[in-house]
Amino acid sequence: MSTRGAVIWLTGLSGAGKSTIARRLAGELAGAGLPTEVLDGDEVRAGLSAELGFSKHDRDIQVQRVGYLSRLLARHGVTVIVALISPYREARDAVRASLDGASAPFLEVHVRAPLEELIRRDTKGLYRKALAGEIDGFTGISDPYEPPARPELVIDTDACTPVAAVERILALLRRSPADTRDHVLAGELAVTAGRRLLGLRAERGFTDPAALRDAGDKISHAYLADRIAEHRPADHLRSEESPGDGTGDRLWIVDPLDGTREFGEQDRTDWAVHVALWRRGTLAAGAIALPARDLVLSTLDAHARPRTPGRFRIAVSRTRPPALASALAAELDADLVPMGSAGVKIASVLLGETDLYVHGGGQYEWDSAAPVAVALAAGLHASRLDGSPLVYGGQDAWLPDLVVCRAGDADRVLAAIRELAPAPAPAAPSRADTPAAQKEQA
Ligand code: ADX
Repeated sequence: MSTRGAVIWLTGLSGAGKSTIARRLAGELAGAGLPTEVLDGDEVRAGLSAELGFSKHDRDIQVQRVGYLSRLLARHGVTVIVALISPYREARDAVRASLDGASAPFLEVHVRAPLEELIRRDTKGLYRKALAGEIDGFTGISDPYEPPARPELVIDTDACTPVAAVERILALLRRSPADTRDHVLAGELAVTAGRRLLGLRAERGFTDPAALRDAGDKISHAYLADRIAEHRPADHLRSEESPGDGTGDRLWIVDPLDGTREFGEQDRTDWAVHVALWRRGTLAAGAIALPARDLVLSTLDAHARPRTPGRFRIAVSRTRPPALASALAAELDADLVPMGSAGVKIASVLLGETDLYVHGGGQYEWDSAAPVAVALAAGLHASRLDGSPLVYGGQDAWLPDLVVCRAGDADRVLAAIRELAPAPAPAAPSRADTPAAQKEQA
């Protein structure tokens, strides 16, 4: 971790967990020998802002003061942890802008929990009073809260322990600014390509699905290739359209439209855009956009949602469930959940909608690189069927088999796969075969 200062700005409703996370984080950082300071709303109000109330004007002054103080401290190498409701976006953005150019990063962390949960917790008894009309202008009840448009991190405290929350913030701090730019770029590219694809669907309609699919592949690929060439001119690109030979230190592995079949069917949302960066032997960044669900999963803020209760579920191909998945379902007493697109299946594990994605029927690197990047960053297990690491950047882009599941399920799943002794991974088809045929089975 660097010794330059930083401002970690925890924003969110009262009782969401900002102070708890701030104190724990400060303990960790101080323990690592970093100069650290916590600026907590209640304490700052007692010490520096006693005259301020909770009007918009007063809250903006509170944010301005804390922002000013943070900047002074960060300039001297202090890691400043701010825990402030700071309900207005414009005021927070002004602090971010004021830190721009300073060598200290500003990390906006939205600490979030459903309002019903906050009312249930009501640690300070303030929600009860606010609901009874005894406090005017209480944030979330009778006063607005504007969530950050692009926070560096969102922590759902009803699904994430304080220990895990602190871990995620520490991971963010360890990242260099250059790394962060790659994560951000991957996310922006996936989201924007996705928007274009949604636009194309709206414009063309579904009367000629084959032409729609073809146009989707083309515009999304052209967009991604152009933007990568523009923003990272020295980097290499690998996709179905331009597989290359895997050379280069930095290789962007993209699938402009994963789930082409589903893209061409009205009302289907199981298609995706994948953007990943393979750098010196590891998946350095990645994002998968699910445009029709208005979702993006990114290494910038990767986390796995808790599994929804019920039987173990395996994500499988809609058109032909691979024999391996069916055999595993019997072995693990699991249900099969059909859906299109390899990326959507891996995303479904991240989203807690399924528990396992397993594939043995042949695939290319672009089918899995981005979702696997996010899965690994979120702490999921992702490997070859034999448990060995997934290695991208191969000469022929062929990566025939993989398994993604929660880390806690990996031993059991890999043992079951060994038990079934699957046939050795299929060899790469000759270049004359279209990758689309392999993709179909993903
Ligand atoms: S901010 O909106 O100006 O950023 P700040 O974080 O400093 O708020 O202070 C919030 C704390 O003040 C809450 O945790 C709560 O204990 C207390 N509080 C008292 N009145 C209000 C109110 N009307 N709205 C929100 N918090 C309030």
